[in-house]
Amino acid sequence: MAAMNKYSTQLVLLALIIFAMGLFAAKVSSSRLLNSDVSMKERHEQWMKEYGRVYEDTAEKERRFNIFKINVERIESMNKLNRSFTLGVNAFTDLTLEEFRASHNGYKQRPVGSLKATSFKYENFTSVPNLINWVTNGAVTPVKDQGQCGCCWAFSAVASTEGIHSINTKKLVSLSEQQVLDCDTNGQDQGCNGGMPQGAFEYMISNGGLTTEDAYPYTGSQGWWCNLWFDAIAAKISNYENVPSDEGSLQKAVANQPCSVAIDASCDDFMQYSGGVFSESCGDNLDHAVTAVGYGTTDDGTDYWLVKNSWGTSWGENGYIRMQRNVGGNGMCGIATDASYPTM
Ligand SMILES: *[C@@H]1O[C@H](CO)[C@@H](O)[C@H](O)[C@H]1NC(C)=O
Ligand SMILES: *[C@@H]1O[C@H](CO)[C@@H](O)[C@H](O)[C@H]1NC(C)=O
Repeated sequence: MAAMNKYSTQLVLLALIIFAMGLFAAKVSSSRLLNSDVSMKERHEQWMKEYGRVYEDTAEKERRFNIFKINVERIESMNKLNRSFTLGVNAFTDLTLEEFRASHNGYKQRPVGSLKATSFKYENFTSVPNLINWVTNGAVTPVKDQGQCGCCWAFSAVASTEGIHSINTKKLVSLSEQQVLDCDTNGQDQGCNGGMPQGAFEYMISNGGLTTEDAYPYTGSQGWWCNLWFDAIAAKISNYENVPSDEGSLQKAVANQPCSVAIDASCDDFMQYSGGVFSESCGDNLDHAVTAVGYGTTDDGTDYWLVKNSWGTSWGENGYIRMQRNVGGNGMCGIATDASYPTM
């Protein structure tokens, strides 16, 4: 009995060893099979660290990983095409396009005729230069980040106001988007749910101007009340004007000052843009407001608009995009459709 017991114990041990080796082999081959997934997981982990992303549970992390993977695969396959622009991983790579649009766009066009804009004062302006860059001319503040609040319209209006204020006074002052967000009670501008730059201009005119970013800093959401008790006005505008919907008129206006523009930013290429001259229109359903801060022509002869966005500096060319210019119609992504600028 004792010998028999010893023999069967050895058998059991042998079986266990074989079983363990089998498990090990299976693990090795499955990790080989999923090698690309493992390195994608590592990339996701690194990306989470870089952008300080924390998920509430493993299910959410798995869901975000899958979206991240789809986005990275799209970026890499599109970058193999010979296009005039490239795509890249940025702060938005774990979001679907729908999620991204819901939280980062937010341009809402008002009914025609509801705007108080007057004539186009640059109508007869003829000495239009071939190149203008309000960034290097010192009329543009550093790129801001609207975060997950659809108030691009306030950022766009404030940037073009900073521009004209700087051009007229030679002082570059960062002005308050939060003030516009909290204090613009015009029912058509709906805070983080969208609005249009012209609405922000109307608020600035009726309020008598804007205070500084420092005095009334951005919080990323609309406050419960307008908190403008003691803050001094830093910049005033007297009026605003709309630009006729063609790129020639927009060029005349941008030659003179940064302009607020509305674009269709509803496509993956736009969300994933990392550099070059953007040349694949998203369409012309305007859903995002940005600021045209210059224009020019690349060495290979492509005309472009230089556009400041408000999605932080991880996106695009340090927060900017160059969009192809002189494409006809209302311009790339509808950029010439609804441009406007404040006057002082
Ligand atoms: C890529 O596109 C550029 C510009 O259109 C062209 O000059 C070049 O020959 C293209 N290269 C390839 C490899 O197709
Ligand atoms: C542009 O010139 C035309 C013709 O001289 C004139 O009628 C119009 O008022 C001018 N526009 C502006 C904004 O000065």
